[in-house]
Amino acid sequence: MFRKIAISAVSALVLGAGSVMAAGVAGHTEDVAFSWEGPFGTYDEHQMQRGLQVFTESCAACHGLKFVPIRSLADEGGPNLPDDQVRAYAAQFDIFDAELDDTRPRKPTDMFPVSGLSNAPDLSLMAKARAGFHGPAGTGITQLFKGIGGPEYIYSILTGYTGEEKEEVGTTFYANTAFPGGWIAMAPPLSDGLVEYADGHDNSKHHIAQDAAAFLMWAAEPKMMARKQAGFTAVIFLTVLSVLLYLTNKKIWSTVKGPKRKDA
Ligand code: HEC
Repeated sequence: MFRKIAISAVSALVLGAGSVMAAGVAGHTEDVAFSWEGPFGTYDEHQMQRGLQVFTESCAACHGLKFVPIRSLADEGGPNLPDDQVRAYAAQFDIFDAELDDTRPRKPTDMFPVSGLSNAPDLSLMAKARAGFHGPAGTGITQLFKGIGGPEYIYSILTGYTGEEKEEVGTTFYANTAFPGGWIAMAPPLSDGLVEYADGHDNSKHHIAQDAAAFLMWAAEPKMMARKQAGFTAVIFLTVLSVLLYLTNKKIWSTVKGPKRKDA
């Protein structure tokens, strides 16, 4: 009996160690100074619009954003597109409408499409799902200074390809310094000059990757600006309240405590 337990304990240990090793090295996440970091940071509307363009022209071929309503593209603090542009954007994608029993162009009230490629994950929440920068020792203090690390991770994936490839059971894997394990099944989606920005902004691979990552951060956390504002209002309110309570407290107890006397 004891032997059996001992053997299974040892094999569990070995298997456990094996799977940790199979998971391989954690990827390397590059730090990027994004516009929304820090207490006063906000999303950059132009960057959001460029990121939407990158997403539409590259990522959307495989990835979906099924939790993001298209109408939110008109939101202030986000891409802030005019309503007619949002309508035109929505109409590019067809959706099956059960009521019509037919497909129709999407409306702003519809969601972005789902992933077109079955093994490409939905990107709606990716920027938060992959939040890194938990250190030191899991306290998350790094996040205060560097941001949550999710969009940085996406940026690092997009720019982390070494150019090496391998084929395993019919799938091509690409060496990537940011992806845990080092090999990702996504072909490098970006290259220098892949998109042409209307505002003539730098379209080198690193800039496109930053714009895409920024857009996906907004997709995952569209109300960040409102949340920060509410936070500030709360801090100011509490400060004023503390001062008032302090003065009230002084006044209430003044009859008991009396004025301070020098000879007491
Ligand atoms: C040709 C199809 C294709 C395109 C285009 C594409 N991807 Fe992917 N992507 C994939 C696949 C497939 C995976 C799953 C890879 C894996 O699990 O090994 C993936 C995975 C990812 C991941 C997840 C990594 C993780 O931690 O699980 C991110 C982030 C990502 N893609 C971002 C993007 C962005 C941003 C773009 C556009 C700039 C893009 N992808 C364009 C196919 C694509």
